[in-house]
Amino acid sequence: MQTPLILALESSCDDTSAAVLRGSVVLSNVVANQAVHEAYGGVVPELASRAHQEHIIPVVQAALHQASVSLADIDALAFTQGPGLMGSLMVGVSFMKSLALSLDRPLIAVNHLHGHVLAHCIADANQSPIVFPFLCLLVSGGHTQIIAVHAPLQMCLLGQTMDDAVGECYDKIAKMLGFPYPGGPHIDRLAQTGNPLAFSFPCSDMPELNYSFSGLKTAVLYFLQKQSADFIAENLADICASVQHTIVKMLLAKLKKAVKQTGIKTLALSGGVAANSGLRSALQTEGAKNKWQVHIPKFSYCTDNAAMIGIVAKFLYEKSNFATQNCLPQARMPIDIHL
Ligand code: KG4
Ligand code: ZN
Repeated sequence: MQTPLILALESSCDDTSAAVLRGSVVLSNVVANQAVHEAYGGVVPELASRAHQEHIIPVVQAALHQASVSLADIDALAFTQGPGLMGSLMVGVSFMKSLALSLDRPLIAVNHLHGHVLAHCIADANQSPIVFPFLCLLVSGGHTQIIAVHAPLQMCLLGQTMDDAVGECYDKIAKMLGFPYPGGPHIDRLAQTGNPLAFSFPCSDMPELNYSFSGLKTAVLYFLQKQSADFIAENLADICASVQHTIVKMLLAKLKKAVKQTGIKTLALSGGVAANSGLRSALQTEGAKNKWQVHIPKFSYCTDNAAMIGIVAKFLYEKSNFATQNCLPQARMPIDIHL
């Protein structure tokens, strides 16, 4: 089979992204962020859909241009089917269905979560290719999951958060501390200059390989309510470092348990929170101690992007797993797949 040229589109939340891939090689990966949500302290679904409509054509044109290809060269059209915001998904799905009809090319429907996991399979000259099976810790604004990945299209969920996602916890605590949305990177930046043991917050321990982050959020809220504004301002870096220390400790504890249960010693970090400096260095340190192979993708493949949708599409293309014009967006989709 000839290596396919795939145009992929991601529009599940607030980033519009288009990418062109030749097999596992990314020729272009263009992302348009939506600044419109900053004023609201979170993503406003209706505004996200409208912004996708504005961005979608320029972003696709830029991706084709940067890859030096034209629409006529494209072998297949891939899009995020879900999970995500219904209105946002609808824009991308409708656009790609129309393009597939007019170009007479096959359509490939991709699960956004598979994209985060398989971002590790994108060809990268600076990283050795990941070896299956591996355990993936997927940490984003919407998800916190530990996944056992046996082959590109064979993966199953081992554990997940029972309430808030870790990114959501970061963003909510950041809001309490007065940072703009999304606040995760602000906490991370300040945490690097603070004392992680200055304050003690409770670590939740859910059954099996599951997580809970809402308790930490509430504990920080009660802690802050008892402090004066001056105390919080003077100790901001220490508070951020202590929160980060607690979150990383919880994430690592279950990951270690998953390694013990499965015997899988290749570990991968995915999703927007994979950009977190504390989590990255804790995983590297723990990996060196326990002889784990640790994989962390480039930052641009951690946050939402279309290159990760394109790599999943490549594997689906190889199995001739195509979607029809009847395919609908889905707000919720399980991660388990056995193709
Ligand atoms: O994967 P992503 O781009 O979008 C979703 O699918 O959710 O993840 C966004 C999340 C936000 O909650 C943001 O605060 C968090 O990732 N994030 C971070 C950092 N960079 C992004 N959280 C902690 N530390 C960071 N450095
Ligand atoms: Zn995502």
